[in-house]
Amino acid sequence: MKIAVAGTGYVGLSMALLLAQHNEVHALDIIPEKVAMLNKGESPIVDAEISAFLDDDKSGERPLSFTATLNPKEAYEGADFAVVATPTNYDSQQNYFDTSSVEAAISAIREANSTAWIIIKSTIPVGYTEHLRTRLGDERLLFSPEFLREGHALYDNLHPSRIVLGAPTGNRQAIAAAHAFVDLLAQGADPAECSRQNEDGSTGIPSLVVGLTEAEAIKLFSNTYLALRVAYFNELDTYAESRGLSTGAIINGVCLDPRIRSDYNNPSFGYGGYCLPKDTKQLLANYSDVPQNLISAIVDANRTRKDFIASEIEERIQGIENPVVGVYRLTMKSGSDNFRQSAIQGIMKRIKARGLTVLVYEPTLDAAEFFGSEVTHDIEDFKRRSSIIVANRWHDDLKGSEEKIYTRDLFKRD
Ligand SMILES: NC(=O)c1ccc[n+]([C@@H]2O[C@H](COP(=O)([O-])OP(=O)(O)OC[C@H]3O[C@@H](n4cnc5c(N)ncnc54)[C@H](O)[C@@H]3O)[C@@H](O)[C@H]2O)c1
Repeated sequence: MKIAVAGTGYVGLSMALLLAQHNEVHALDIIPEKVAMLNKGESPIVDAEISAFLDDDKSGERPLSFTATLNPKEAYEGADFAVVATPTNYDSQQNYFDTSSVEAAISAIREANSTAWIIIKSTIPVGYTEHLRTRLGDERLLFSPEFLREGHALYDNLHPSRIVLGAPTGNRQAIAAAHAFVDLLAQGADPAECSRQNEDGSTGIPSLVVGLTEAEAIKLFSNTYLALRVAYFNELDTYAESRGLSTGAIINGVCLDPRIRSDYNNPSFGYGGYCLPKDTKQLLANYSDVPQNLISAIVDANRTRKDFIASEIEERIQGIENPVVGVYRLTMKSGSDNFRQSAIQGIMKRIKARGLTVLVYEPTLDAAEFFGSEVTHDIEDFKRRSSIIVANRWHDDLKGSEEKIYTRDLFKRD
């Protein structure tokens, strides 16, 4: 089977390598450097499983049928499936996702190939695929929500929580194609997943084929729930901090309830990363004429949390002459190389708006400045020069400077 993938970011590359175990995969990107790296067997992103797959392919231990290309014809012609995994940034002017890269990829696929099923993996507004299907008069558009975490992109596809495919209701061929794609994703997963026991008593990877719009809603409601959970424990922390209570004691007591559980309960500076901020805003936009309170509150809570954190930092440096606020890592999670929409950048903006000097420690950033703030790559220099060290997540690098650290990472995990 020939499969084309448009976009070799977190989603596209993990999809491409997963599928290249059993299929001929051609991944297209518009960035020549990425394509060149991939064809040398190097990963453009930090992801242990992606690097291991590329290494094993080179050594012949796990041969993959994978090539990267800049040429749409080479990628798309003759493909049975074409996966679209290009960015959908939130456009704050339009109050909607910018879906132009998805449309550019779909147009290039349709130009080169009149039979391939097109699987949109990018996160899109609820109702988007149905709208496009009608506009283009093309029955080949399917949608599959992607649930991976950055830093664990391929791992999460090898061990998927679930596989969801959206297909137009009533279109038997499209529904059959959706099932066929579910099977391809399951075939690429770790073989042990086929016999795993799920909490609901079922065996194997839970798989759903639903309507197109329901599949899109599953993605945005899943991420908005995760944002809600982060925002909830962050507001619990804001309350405890404001009242002089132990956040850890309260969270431990709350989360011992088996209905609440302890996942995703570690306070932070706010929810962030590429997806949660934009996906919550998009879901709110989709609610435009539907009554709601909670979705707005989830979006607003992140702003309020960052305001609170910035005020706490400011309070802690009162009385210090010419204070330097040290920002330890721009990333959202420890072990990540990506700082798109990280919460700490929102904190930096607020602190700088108050006229404070910021010094950044970010070893993955090859630059001397970040938005006008000095960047150092020397951790000892950073620790020495910072009056306070602001860290969204704790790291052993920070040992020895405990008295300077301001973090809300109570459980020392993501
Ligand atoms: N990153 C995540 O954790 C994650 C998780 C689930 C869903 N998603 C969604 O998946 C989509 C992609 O996210 P990502 O993090 O992989 O993005 P990314 O920015 O890491 O990668 C996207 C890639 O697409 C390429 N590209 C842009 N336009 C193209 C075109 N016309 N043809 C071919 N390639 C093109 C870019 O050069 C880039 O390499 C987004 O909609 C995102 O919301 C991301």
